[in-house]
Amino acid sequence: MKPNIFITKKIPKEVEEYIAEHCNYEIWDGKYPINREELLGKLGSIDGIMTTKESIDEEFLSYAKNIKVISNIAVGYDNFDIELMKNNNVKGTHTPHVLDETVADTALGLLIMTSRKLSYLDHYVKKGKWKEKEHESFLGKDIHHATLGIIGSGRIGEKIIRRATLGFNMKVLYHNRSRNKEIEDKYKAQYTTKEKLLKEADFIMILLPLNNQTTHYISHEEFELMKKDAFFINVSRGKVINEIALIDALKNNKIAGAGLDVYETEPLSMDSPLLNMDNVVTLPHVGSASKKTRNGMAMRAAQNLVAGLYDEEPVYLIKEMK
Ligand code: DGY
Repeated sequence: MKPNIFITKKIPKEVEEYIAEHCNYEIWDGKYPINREELLGKLGSIDGIMTTKESIDEEFLSYAKNIKVISNIAVGYDNFDIELMKNNNVKGTHTPHVLDETVADTALGLLIMTSRKLSYLDHYVKKGKWKEKEHESFLGKDIHHATLGIIGSGRIGEKIIRRATLGFNMKVLYHNRSRNKEIEDKYKAQYTTKEKLLKEADFIMILLPLNNQTTHYISHEEFELMKKDAFFINVSRGKVINEIALIDALKNNKIAGAGLDVYETEPLSMDSPLLNMDNVVTLPHVGSASKKTRNGMAMRAAQNLVAGLYDEEPVYLIKEMK
């Protein structure tokens, strides 16, 4: 008998065909994201699920009594309670690698948008404010030959460093749990302390996964260290930053601006002060959102799920479960 699975968001046709070969399945076709109550109602008879950001906690597992595999269609898995899943023999999987280059593109896009004020200037023209030939407010900050500070130099960090050094001649400082000789040799990236990086970088990018150690990794103290003309970019997870501290830093000109794809609470509330700041670019968590990459992520998540349900080790079982 095929296992029963539930999928919390629409998936491409070829992924659905692959799933259909191996599983009985239902795909959520209501408003995205599925609300908690509807989700809990779907869990009774399922063996596996494909998720994006749904919290996997005690309540979830108390409804999903037969569940064996939870397959995130994402590289991040901060929605998993890993210890709880391990104690209940539930496997967790994710989708690394396939999205690295796409997220690196987004990070560079945010870097250029913020430093050269592209979003602000686009609105300027569209709102009919372009009356003079040039206005003082058009002037941005150069990216080329500037110093980029990368906190968290994993797979995505490496792709960003490649773009920044080969494409923009940037000098790169990086801080990570461990040194990465490869990026030092290939791109002359310099390993440094968190403090030195924050003090010296013109652009600071944070690429850490969210966990207990990285929650509010950047807060008031860190923003105080940054240069007044530094730009801050976040494409990882919102909670890695203390958003109140970020807003304070922006309001009080402790930094020059920010490019954000992620927030402490998503979707970002329309009451957020970030929305009224010309020097902040706000994207709706689209780091990996190219068609090809999202299709690749969905296929990888489906393969992880099927492998786990058929008692094989999924290729992208999360590392804490290996
Ligand atoms: C990821 O894969 O973790 C991206 O942030 C998309 O959610």
